Amino acid sequence: MFLIGCDIGTSGTKTVLFDEAGNTVASALREYPLYQPKNGWAEQDPRDWWKACAEGIKEVILKTEIKPEAIAAVGLSGQMHGLVMLDKNDEIIRPSIIWCDQRTGEAAEHLTDLVGKEELVKITANPAMTGFTASKILWVKENEPENFEKCAKFMLPKDYVRYMLTGEFATEVSDASGMQLMDVPGRCWSKKIIAKLELDESKLGRIYESCEVTGKVSEKAARETGLAPGTVVVGGAGDQAAGAVGNGIVREGVISATIGTSGVVFAHTDNISIDPKGRVHTLCHAVPGAWHIMGVTQAAALSFNWMRDSFFPDIVSASKAIGRDKNALIDEAAAKSPIGANGLIYLPYLMGERTPHLDPDCRGVLFGLSAMHQRNDIARSVLEGVVFSLCDCLNIIRDMTGSEIGKIFASGGGAVSPLWRKMMADAFGAPIYRNNSKEGGALGVAILAGVGAGLYKSVPEACDALISEKDITANEEENTARYAKYYNIYTHLYDSLRDDFKLLKQ
Ligand code: XUL
Repeated sequence: MFLIGCDIGTSGTKTVLFDEAGNTVASALREYPLYQPKNGWAEQDPRDWWKACAEGIKEVILKTEIKPEAIAAVGLSGQMHGLVMLDKNDEIIRPSIIWCDQRTGEAAEHLTDLVGKEELVKITANPAMTGFTASKILWVKENEPENFEKCAKFMLPKDYVRYMLTGEFATEVSDASGMQLMDVPGRCWSKKIIAKLELDESKLGRIYESCEVTGKVSEKAARETGLAPGTVVVGGAGDQAAGAVGNGIVREGVISATIGTSGVVFAHTDNISIDPKGRVHTLCHAVPGAWHIMGVTQAAALSFNWMRDSFFPDIVSASKAIGRDKNALIDEAAAKSPIGANGLIYLPYLMGERTPHLDPDCRGVLFGLSAMHQRNDIARSVLEGVVFSLCDCLNIIRDMTGSEIGKIFASGGGAVSPLWRKMMADAFGAPIYRNNSKEGGALGVAILAGVGAGLYKSVPEACDALISEKDITANEEENTARYAKYYNIYTHLYDSLRDDFKLLKQ
C-alpha cells in the first residue's frame, strides 16, 4: 500500500507519495503567491492551497501509474495559525490572514485584557501571541465586523483543504493548539476562552488526535484529485509537529534543531510543561497524549540569505558559472574566520524575536565592528548569531524539562551546511545527529496517515521502522569553552539594547 503526505507551506505545497517503508515514490511541488497589501500584512488565497493540493495529488498518482485504490490514506501538514473564514454557503469571506502577519499586536493585548494573562497561559499554555489565530479573529471582529458576523466556520489552512477533500469540518490537536482557543492540557476547545471572545463552538471544527481518521475523500474531490472515493484522511499536523514526526522526535529527551527561514528547537514531552514567561510555545504534539515545547527564532536562514545577498553578490553570480552551490561558497568564506569572528557578534533580530524575548520591535545588530573586519568575519558572525539564538531556545527547554537532553537532530536547509552543524555541536556542547529522512513534514503526516489506516501500530513504532540515523557531527570541548565566551556577551547585548530598540521604532 501507499501513503500520501501534503505539506501546505507558505511558498508552496509539496505532495509526496510514499511506499509503506517510507521511501519517496513521487513528489510534486506547486507554488502560489503571498499578498502583502500593507506593510506587515501577509495574506493568501485558500483556493490556491486547495488547487495546489488537488493538482499535486493528481500529478503523483499519474507519474507512478499506481491504482488510486492502492493509496491507503492521506495526511495533511499545514502552515500554522492562519485564519480561514467561510460563510453559511461555504464561500470564502476574505483572504486568509496567515501566520507571519503582524497586524494583530493590539488585538493580542486585547486578548490578554479579556482573559487575564495568568488564566490565558494556564488554559492555552501560551501568553497572547500576535501570530496565533485568536488575535486574528479579534482583529476581524474589531476591524471588519460585517465579515465577523457573516462567518459560519473559522478554520486553519490545512483544515480548509480537509474540508474540500472530505466535506468534514474538523481539525486536530497539534495545529488547533496554535489557535489559542484550546484548553491545551485538556486537548479540547476551551469553553471559557470561546465565551470571552463571544464565539460559538459550532463555528470551530471537531478536534481529533493527529493520527485519527477525520473523514473520507468525497466523490467530487475524487474527481478533482484522482484519489479513490472513500480514501481515508487523517488529522495530520501543524508543520512543526509534522516535521518533528518526520524526523523521529516522538520520545522524551530527543530534540530537533531546525534551521529553515525561521529556526526552531523542538522537544517532545509526555507531561505538559509550560513556561510561565511564555518564552517558548507549548502545544499538543501529533503523538497521541503528548505535548511539545518549541523555541522559535524568527530569522535563521533568513539572516543567512540577507548576509549572502548583501555582502557576497559577486560570489552569488559567480557560483552558477563555476557550477558550485552558492551557500557552500559562503560557508567556505565564513570558515576562513575563527571562532568568535575576530570579536564580531551578530544578533539575528531582523524580524523581531519570539524566543526568548517575545519582542516584535528588536532589530538585528552587528556588534564589535572594527576596521580590521572583513566580510568573511561578517559571514561567520551571522552563522554564529543564529546558533546563539538556538542556544537560547535550547537552554530554556533544558531548564523546563529538567531532564538530560538526549540526541539533538539537525534538520531544515541549514542542516546541509557542515560548518553550521559543527557550530551547533560545539556551541551546544553536544554531538549533532542527522537522519535519513528528507521529506520532513510530508513524511511526518504520511506516518500519521499510516497509523490511522492501520499500517503501523503507533507513531513511535513507525518512526523506529522508517527513520534511521545518517551521520554525527562531534563536538569539541575546547571549542565549547571558546563559544561560551561570545555567547555570554551575546546574551547581555539584548538587555543593554532593549530600550533603544523601542526608541528606534518611534
Ligand atoms: C509555528 C510557525 C511556523 C508556521 C509557518 O509557530 O509560526 O512554523 O507554521 O511555517
